[in-house]
Amino acid sequence: MKFLVTGGAGFIGSAFVRLLLARQGDKAEVVNLDKLTYAGNLENLAAVSNDPCYRFVHGDICDAKLVNSLVAETTPDVIVNFAAESHVDRSILSPAPVFETNLRGTFTLLEAARTHKTPRFLHVSTDEVYGSIDPPYEANEDFPLHASSPYSASKAGSDLLALSYYTTYGMPVMVTRASNNYGPYQFPEKLIPLMVSNALEDKPLPIYGDGMQIRDWLFVEDHCRAILAVIERGRPGEVYNIGGSRALPNIEVVKRLLAAVGKPESLMQTVKDRPGHDRRYALSSAKIRRETGWHPRVPFEEGMMATVEWYQSNPEWIAHVKSGEYQSYYHHNYANRAAE
Ligand code: NAD
Ligand code: DAU
Repeated sequence: MKFLVTGGAGFIGSAFVRLLLARQGDKAEVVNLDKLTYAGNLENLAAVSNDPCYRFVHGDICDAKLVNSLVAETTPDVIVNFAAESHVDRSILSPAPVFETNLRGTFTLLEAARTHKTPRFLHVSTDEVYGSIDPPYEANEDFPLHASSPYSASKAGSDLLALSYYTTYGMPVMVTRASNNYGPYQFPEKLIPLMVSNALEDKPLPIYGDGMQIRDWLFVEDHCRAILAVIERGRPGEVYNIGGSRALPNIEVVKRLLAAVGKPESLMQTVKDRPGHDRRYALSSAKIRRETGWHPRVPFEEGMMATVEWYQSNPEWIAHVKSGEYQSYYHHNYANRAAE
């Protein structure tokens, strides 16, 4: 199969590209279109960069001319759209880029796929589109959308846009909505890598509000296997939730990370809460389990230890991504956040 992957230099996209190229048997051909924003990093793809089945294209999914000619030239069997501005806090500080990439970019890809009759289009989305879910409920795919941040609103909008291409044009579009991913190569703006990398440097760990917000943790390789399962066995026009089935309050996650790196809990520092902060995400993954046979394989304890060990073993990677732009972002987001 020929894959056109967008955003394949990011955290999840690069894990997906590595997974595709590691598969035995019918080898995939992979073209990776990525703009290399602050979150894109070719070091994430060092393991596959010389693979003859892999090609990197540096470019923007909003560039209609580029996207159109790339789809015409590569004639992919499937387009998998990971490219996004993916961080909630950044979307709050500066909303414009999320709407540009997440909405216009998705539109541009859909138009190219429509023009060239691409046989499959998988749009990678998030459980954030359902908003905060009161216990004991879990959102299934029919739950109403309730986006709280500019990030989640842009993802909800791009989901609806993608699904409209199925309804209107009969395009074989599928949407996946995953819960919080974690694993190696995640940019240290997100909870787990931020806490691990700060702890390794004995820096304070900023806990938003009371730290009792609940997220459902999914190991990145389980997410990538789920996406493949949907491409291979999912039905066009459908949405598939992908949950880790491992709900934990943030503070519990951070305490476990501190224990894993052998640092004291006194490093935790309560800071002002995120505006519009969703209290609880909870997903039902019954549909993907039933229709594709997928289920998460990596228990949180195992995935967390593998992740912590990866960050401990890769100080150069952390130092590189934390240099430059990261410092100004960190200052912007955390400097004036002392708890009330
Ligand atoms: P990431 O921020 O690590 O990577 C995003 C990638 O997209 C980067 O390589 C970046 O350079 C690229 N990119 C950004 N704008 C682009 C543009 N205009 N054109 C081309 N490339 C562009 O993100 P991630 O955490 O790997 O998330 C990937 C996808 O999965 C996103 O769509 C996100 O919404 C979704 N998702 C993420 C999570 C999570 O927990 N991280 C959970 C569910 C869904
Ligand atoms: O649920 C899926 C989503 O998960 C994805 O769509 C997003 O792309 C991804 O960024 C993630 O969003 P969250 O906002 O849930 O992830 P984040 O890692 O930013 O935060 C996780 C929780 O930790 C959240 O409740 C906020 C809290 N937090 C986060 C940071 C960065 C803190 O308490 N302190 C922090 O410094």
